[in-house]
Amino acid sequence: MSQSQETLSNLLQETRRFDPPAELAEAANVKADAYDEAATDRLGFWERQADRLTWAKRWDTVLDWNNPPFAKWFVGGELNVAYNCVDRHVEAGKGAKIAFHWEGEPEGDTRTLTYADLQREVNKAANALLELGVQKGDRVAIYMPMIPELPISMLACARIGATHSVVFGGFSADALKTRIEDAQAKLVITADGGYRRGKPSSLKPTVDEAAAAADCVEHVLVVRRTGEEVAEHERDVWWHDIVDRQTDQHTAEPHDAEHPLYILYTSGTTGKPKGILHTTGGYLTQVAYTHHAVFDLKPETDVYWCSADIGWVTGHSYIVYGPLANGATSVMYEGTPDTPHRGRWWEIIQKYKVSIFYTAPTAIRTFMKWGDDIPAQFDLSSLRVLGSVGEPINPEAYVWYREHIGANKTPVVDTWWQTETGAIMISPLPGVTAGKPGAAMKPLPGIVADVVDDQAQAVPNGGGGFLVVKEPWPSMLRTIWGDDERYVKTYWSRFDGLYFAGDGAKKDEDGDLWLLGRVDDVMLVSGHNISTTEVESALVSHPKVAESAVVGATDPVTGQAIVAFVIPRGSAGEEVEGEDFIKELRDHVSKTLGPIAKPRQIMIVPELPKTRSGKIMRRLLRDVAENRSIGDVTTLADSTVMDLISEKLPSAK
Ligand code: WT7
Repeated sequence: MSQSQETLSNLLQETRRFDPPAELAEAANVKADAYDEAATDRLGFWERQADRLTWAKRWDTVLDWNNPPFAKWFVGGELNVAYNCVDRHVEAGKGAKIAFHWEGEPEGDTRTLTYADLQREVNKAANALLELGVQKGDRVAIYMPMIPELPISMLACARIGATHSVVFGGFSADALKTRIEDAQAKLVITADGGYRRGKPSSLKPTVDEAAAAADCVEHVLVVRRTGEEVAEHERDVWWHDIVDRQTDQHTAEPHDAEHPLYILYTSGTTGKPKGILHTTGGYLTQVAYTHHAVFDLKPETDVYWCSADIGWVTGHSYIVYGPLANGATSVMYEGTPDTPHRGRWWEIIQKYKVSIFYTAPTAIRTFMKWGDDIPAQFDLSSLRVLGSVGEPINPEAYVWYREHIGANKTPVVDTWWQTETGAIMISPLPGVTAGKPGAAMKPLPGIVADVVDDQAQAVPNGGGGFLVVKEPWPSMLRTIWGDDERYVKTYWSRFDGLYFAGDGAKKDEDGDLWLLGRVDDVMLVSGHNISTTEVESALVSHPKVAESAVVGATDPVTGQAIVAFVIPRGSAGEEVEGEDFIKELRDHVSKTLGPIAKPRQIMIVPELPKTRSGKIMRRLLRDVAENRSIGDVTTLADSTVMDLISEKLPSAK
């Protein structure tokens, strides 16, 4: 078949395969037999994973699914999360092992925390929380920069059985207030500020406003980080006044396996944010197992770095709970990737000899845009496994990541999961899977997921539809805080008895899974379903394109028409202006995916609108594409981006 005859049935035809390096495969933590082991006895498999943890009381029943979709895992079991993440490593003689190499944004501002340091700090913080009247079952909101006191605060809450609700430090006072009130938090832990792009960026004024407006806050506990002047209120307590004078002894009590560990709010496209509830035993089991399996973590030799912010679930599960449960040595970085220069991340990898690195496609595409010469200036030879999370990784971004960061040898694990799933669900295993650029491949051992059509029937290989999870899993959300009905309606009502993830997916001829983005982002062009992800990947596969975002705009002829926004690559220079370039790109998409996927319109832009977690806000681009005035921009990471785009496009208001 000639290329021009290719139809949509072979969208995303991607033939490159990357076998695991032999050495890595040989010594891998998890081998291919894990799939069979878990398939033969799924609950027994998860029991063996729960044995990675130290339980004060063993469970009676692995899973209670008598009242679906309300799951209880490891029923009757008791454990303490902070004990598992900290104390037991110290007791095992690993107190001197480094838990965190912390790197502040200002160069030279670093701290090293061993497991013994962490134990003392967590105990003191736990004692301070008790002095402030926080009790088991209370909620504590945490609004902090990426400083060590953030994981310390989370672990202190976990230790005493208080449920934390971390709110990302970029959210507004109003967003913070809504979250504080929904959880009825009686304490807020914050800092005067943090460092962002070379300057102090304040947090305390936002908390002051939120705490004054919320009806439930008794105290605000404030870490001094930047030293900038802050207003002081009666409810405020300085961290250094109360935490520093506590004893560093505290006996961790065991909590029930289903005790609420944390709430994390996720903003849907509509309605108020959903407080996703995670509990204790099942959550810690799955984050520990997946961190061990997916990253092939060898705690004695690896240095692990996840570049996420702890304000998102990625940071909860793969900066704090998973790595610490496994006794890993991690890097934690406070600031942005371009401060004071665009090689800062690679410099950090070189400095700490990071061997496992976990980041997001949006960051990878930014580095592609900045140019290959930047990472080339650093020694990245310590790296052996690379991970990706947050959105589908375009094949070109995957290949760039592997080549320019991973020296053309490291496996890239594309990990699919959600705030709701708590831990990784679908991913290659670095010592087992021959990676396909752009594919998340297979559900992990112990996870049963599939792609179904709108009648809930599994699609055959080669087919596409909705991603579902068919059996409960240990780290699943237990409910939406205070709203069981919304939990059932949002996740368990689309298909009877199946968890509806809200993502579109495809099974290729080998049965491997390709994620296609949120189902709301699928376009209908002349009766064909075309995913925005596929067209974006086709555009990014052009050598002069760094990043793209695609939306469906209403069209009188085709129903919806494809409109693409494109950021050229750093090295593409001047040649990217003008009609010829746009024609070249349209032809390129047509050749790659078929004429049906050819964009009606392509706009060259300097930036794309993204949320604070790096997801493209297609809603705003649809406004541009349909010549409407641009809607609410308050959740943008950078609210000036839409102005930049509008300036470039005289037609967009
Ligand atoms: C949504 C969940 C999971 C932590 C960060 C985001 C998208 C996430 C992938 C991936 C394709 C992905 C999905 C999912 N997503 N990882 N590897 N491939 N899509 O957590 O904010 O709860 O977002 O992110 O659309 O539903 P979140």
